[in-house]
Amino acid sequence: MAGYLVEDTRKVTTLRLQEMKEKGEKIAMLTVYDYTMARILDDAGLDAVLIGDSAANVMAGYTTTLPMTIDHMIYHASSVVRGVKRALVVCDMPFGTYQVNPTEGVKNAIRIMQESGCDALKLEGGIEIIEIVKRIIEAGIPVMGHLGLTPQSINKFGTFGVRAKDEAEAKKLLSDAHALEEAGCFAITLEKIPAKLAGKVSEELRIPIIGIGAGSEVDGQVLVVQDMLGMTKGFNPKFLRKYEDLYGRIVDGVGNYITDVKQVTFPSKDEGY
Ligand code: KIV
Repeated sequence: MAGYLVEDTRKVTTLRLQEMKEKGEKIAMLTVYDYTMARILDDAGLDAVLIGDSAANVMAGYTTTLPMTIDHMIYHASSVVRGVKRALVVCDMPFGTYQVNPTEGVKNAIRIMQESGCDALKLEGGIEIIEIVKRIIEAGIPVMGHLGLTPQSINKFGTFGVRAKDEAEAKKLLSDAHALEEAGCFAITLEKIPAKLAGKVSEELRIPIIGIGAGSEVDGQVLVVQDMLGMTKGFNPKFLRKYEDLYGRIVDGVGNYITDVKQVTFPSKDEGY
């Protein structure tokens, strides 16, 4: 099996990710939403997994992440936690659960931690959510920031296109990243921004920067697992490298099953009782 050889079998913590940045070791992260896939990804040796609210798209077929609720996220995250031994498990706080006020945000953050058993939370936004980020961290919960394309604000942006291409937005993103670091975030995800800007953020900040569509000059990468395994047919953004064609392989496998059932070559005598 072509897995990545993991010598350090200790549970990955936020501190370990920090050490990896300091040593120049890149961080490999993928999204995951269920127990079976979580076991496979953890066995393969990933450093971190994200229960992204992209579950709305890949698991539930919605066009945005906005329909995800706290109950949906807890269901997905607790399933993943049961399948993971080593990787750091980060869960997205879904839309509407931290934007109203800090008290409600902290209450929801504690609920996700308690009911899912995940290790950390991810929140989208910069200076506008800084008070809630601080309060959640004060409650003892590690927070990962998320800047650039923040899909929970898709209706404000009106496009899934590349963010921070102009100077003003790039300047705001850089100051948001500094604010998140000062607030105590252990890492930041940068989504779909110019590679040069992402590299600058990674260079200026002490904490790890994890990119998706943000080039190679960051401290790690995250992709949606169904996208990189080639299960989401027709989704081909420039930043996505497909490591498998599971869509095609599953269609072939299921096609063979259909043929066997129709031709009564399955089950055989040995496959019965
Ligand atoms: O929800 C998600 O999958 C994410 C990644 C794209 C970083 O936030």
